[in-house]
Amino acid sequence: MAVGTGCLYENPKLRAMGGGLIRPGGLELTQRALAASGLQPGARLLDIGCGTGAALRYLGERGFRAVGIDPSLPLLAEGLAKNPGLSLAGAAGTMLPFCDGCLDAVLAECSLSVMEDAKKALKECFRVLDRGGLLLAHDVYLRNPCGADALRGLPVKSCLTGAVSREEWLERFTSCGFEVVLWEDRSRALKEFAARLIFEHGPLETFWDCPAPVGSALFSAKPGYFLAMARSTR
Ligand SMILES: C[S@@+](CC[C@H](N)C(=O)[O-])C[C@H]1O[C@@H](n2cnc3c(N)ncnc32)[C@H](O)[C@@H]1O
Repeated sequence: MAVGTGCLYENPKLRAMGGGLIRPGGLELTQRALAASGLQPGARLLDIGCGTGAALRYLGERGFRAVGIDPSLPLLAEGLAKNPGLSLAGAAGTMLPFCDGCLDAVLAECSLSVMEDAKKALKECFRVLDRGGLLLAHDVYLRNPCGADALRGLPVKSCLTGAVSREEWLERFTSCGFEVVLWEDRSRALKEFAARLIFEHGPLETFWDCPAPVGSALFSAKPGYFLAMARSTR
């Protein structure tokens, strides 16, 4: 299948670039989120949209009881082939196969923006979190939301096509029962990721395998990247 007709996150070139991770920031961003959370080894974590489970492996090595869900069968299969011991399951963020209040934290690393209904997923996160549980999310946001249409029009589904403004992300978190306790701008990580894509694979249009002007859509919407921590108000 041409990449231009599918999902960017299933492109093997992306995983090769990020050591299995399919997004900006590397494990440094996972580490930063954990440090901000104060979670201790033994804490129960769920990674929603875990891809091949690269962050799950990192969490497990640090003593966290981590499980991951993802609806992409190719990504799950690759993750299990590389790390047969990982707790991975096929599921969508909008219907989490966990009981109410059974987790200490949910990690969403560049995955909320690719879900069709991010609010429904956030309500699910709220449901499965214990009292005062934490949502740790990093993702793309638009610094010029007026340019969103150009990004949404790109033919390949990615975190860029589903990104919204900072205000919209904050509204989503708070309306789903969370109090946002940390918001950090991490746009440099997105710029570095895009630069690496260009250096390793040429113009973004080539990488996307699509004729649409990706560069001008990006210029118009001015995407940035954030790290947020939000606490359940339950
Ligand atoms: C940009 S990738 C990030 C993957 C991983 N979190 C990482 O850090 O490398 C987005 C991930 O979200 C997953 N995804 C897509 N739709 C989803 C949904 N409805 N619920 C949960 N995950 C979803 C994709 O399969 C993909 O693995």
